Amino acid sequence: MPKDKNRYQCSACGAEHRKWAGRCAECDAWNTIEELATVPLATTNPRFGGLIAPQRIQSLTEVSLEREPNTRTGMGELDRVLGGGIVRGSVVLLGGDPGIGKSTLLLQALASASQLKNLYISGEESAQQIGLRAHRLGLDDSPLRILTETCVEAILATVDKERPQLMVIDSIQTLFTQHLQSAPGSVAQVRESAAVLVRYAKQSGTAVFLVGHVTKEGALAGPRVLEHMVDTVLYFEGDPGGRYRILRAVKNRFGAVNELGVFAMTEQGLKGISNPSAIFLSRHESPVPGSTIMVTREGTRPLIVEVQALVDESPLGNPRRVALGLDQGRMAMLLAVMHRHGGVAMFNQDVFVNIVGGVKITETAADLPVMLAALSSFRSKPLPEDLVVFGEVGLAGEIRPVLNGQERLNEAAKHGFKKAIIPKANTPKKQQPDMEILAAQRLSEVIDWLV
Ligand code: TYD
Ligand code: MG
Repeated sequence: MPKDKNRYQCSACGAEHRKWAGRCAECDAWNTIEELATVPLATTNPRFGGLIAPQRIQSLTEVSLEREPNTRTGMGELDRVLGGGIVRGSVVLLGGDPGIGKSTLLLQALASASQLKNLYISGEESAQQIGLRAHRLGLDDSPLRILTETCVEAILATVDKERPQLMVIDSIQTLFTQHLQSAPGSVAQVRESAAVLVRYAKQSGTAVFLVGHVTKEGALAGPRVLEHMVDTVLYFEGDPGGRYRILRAVKNRFGAVNELGVFAMTEQGLKGISNPSAIFLSRHESPVPGSTIMVTREGTRPLIVEVQALVDESPLGNPRRVALGLDQGRMAMLLAVMHRHGGVAMFNQDVFVNIVGGVKITETAADLPVMLAALSSFRSKPLPEDLVVFGEVGLAGEIRPVLNGQERLNEAAKHGFKKAIIPKANTPKKQQPDMEILAAQRLSEVIDWLV
């Protein structure tokens, strides 16, 4: 292909360029110029409709509301996160750190959903490696079909003939389309390959799982548009050294977002844990400073997790603030609120906060637990062992209610917790038996209570 055929476009301002450059001459933005596909696939490839003709418009009354039933994979936790099972023609993007178990999960899912004709396409591992893993997982007798290929056109030609109902691409970063000259894994290649596969899925009704790598920061590598193109985005999280893994839906056109599935990694692969409530506790023998138990409700299930903090005098002019499993900016905000409205100054202290077990918490109910953990460590004063905490904290030092307070309290009671610090507006209507509740309106009340 002659070189000057390639076109480039600035992703910030949309200007087209003949050559790649580090900086867009139109808008002066850096690193925004990307290669464009030379052949606009959607309009010229006869498989996808050929020449463009006027399309028929439907009125809303003609639209069939009948939904095809989901196909259950038989892995309960995966089905829960998917919103009930696999939807025909859907595209699911699965992201996660290397070694977290993405390939294992999907291999098990294909074997488990044996009623669907499957195809596992790997660009990362050889057929032998996949075979060995399947053997380790005890899937020798499953009708798994494997293809090792990275060229999108070759994959399309194969699946066009094979017509699988469920297919896995491991991983989208290894694919390339012949229409682009950039290397596999580049933004343009990932986007174009994914676009072709999404179109194929919609047109053929094949359900497609795409494995996506994540960057150091934990976001999906490659173009942001990838997340818009697919129906469902799942993240597989957890501490790779630990036993538990969490599958989280961050986008789902067919179910609840932030739904969680919990798995344990065992010798025989991933096992779903249908009642995960209290597995993320470290269970200290005696109370230790810097540890708070909270009830989070990510998705549709309450989950009891431990928040740990370490506050220590900093030798640095700019003390460190490290948050694991939690938004760093939010933690800085909470420390500022604690200073301003609680009179607790930690500006010369290093503060580390960690959610035990590699859990990530995105909801604001963690505000109060994080503050109390930091305070407890700072003052070297353990909190009672049988205490749970949840609540959002505002910039004015007020404690705001969170959703499903009653359900969280019930869950805590079920696991034997006897004390709770909660937002005033979450006070249960009925007296909670066997539980002493501090319903607080302001941060200062909680700090006074601790002293
Ligand atoms: P893998 O699925 O290859 O991760 P990814 O595709 O996300 O990179 O999982 C690899 C890890 O899982 C590896 O560290 C070994 C572990 N593992 C088990 O503990 N038990 C098993 O049965 C299998 C297959 C893997
Ligand atoms: Mg893998």
